[in-house]
Amino acid sequence: MKVIRSVAAMQRESAAWVRSGDAVGLVPTMGALHEGHLTLIRRAKKECGRVVVTIYVNPTQFGPKEDLARYPRPRREDLALCRKAGVEVVFAPENLYLPNHSTWVEETALSQGREGASRPGHFRGVATVVLKLFNLTRPTRAYFGQKDAQQVEVIRRMVRNLDVPVRLVIVPTVRDADGLALSSRNRYLSPEERTVAVKFASLLQEAALRPADSARWLRGQLKRVAGLNLDYVELTGDRLCAAVFVGKTRLIDNEGLRR
Ligand code: PAF
Repeated sequence: MKVIRSVAAMQRESAAWVRSGDAVGLVPTMGALHEGHLTLIRRAKKECGRVVVTIYVNPTQFGPKEDLARYPRPRREDLALCRKAGVEVVFAPENLYLPNHSTWVEETALSQGREGASRPGHFRGVATVVLKLFNLTRPTRAYFGQKDAQQVEVIRRMVRNLDVPVRLVIVPTVRDADGLALSSRNRYLSPEERTVAVKFASLLQEAALRPADSARWLRGQLKRVAGLNLDYVELTGDRLCAAVFVGKTRLIDNEGLRR
């Protein structure tokens, strides 16, 4: 497995891939890899001749009061997991922004509300870095988890609006046996907080079975859970999306309504 740290080396590698005509699968991550990421990697390996995983904690998608500094960075474990999963290249740059960076990708409709309202500037950072990663790795297919539902919507729209030649593959959310959606941020949770987080996941699942009043019902239930602070519950199309704080940890999850 090759570990590439510089933009120039990544550009050379992806240019060679394009010449070879092989399908390239990209799995963009911020590291702290878990079974959710490994599911994306396995799917990419099944569908593409070459798989590149990017590991980059993108500073521009974090707000000033968010967890950029403490975001987990277990680099050695991440590389070991990628090696074991048969990844061909890991692109793990130190920095992707020049000091005079002043060009941004901004999706202005689907990025509003939900995460966009709670985390101003988040999707501008996401869209910008994802387009940079597409340009650097030149994938045929790129793999994203359904857990970040609004991120998926924004990236889909960006790809369509900016004619980016990549096929997006969206993979269902992976959950632990107790129902909690896998997330790198779950490692912040104490055992007591984890119990509260599991309650959040199970109430969301239950709400998805109540299409007539899912959002109102879930809001009411979540407000009653001790140790949990509700950020939002919103029904977008047929998908019920929610964000909560458990202690200092912000968790998001979503589920399609079962009609
Ligand atoms: O979903 C994530 O981990 C990040 O938002 C992404 C897509 C890697 C961009 O930094």
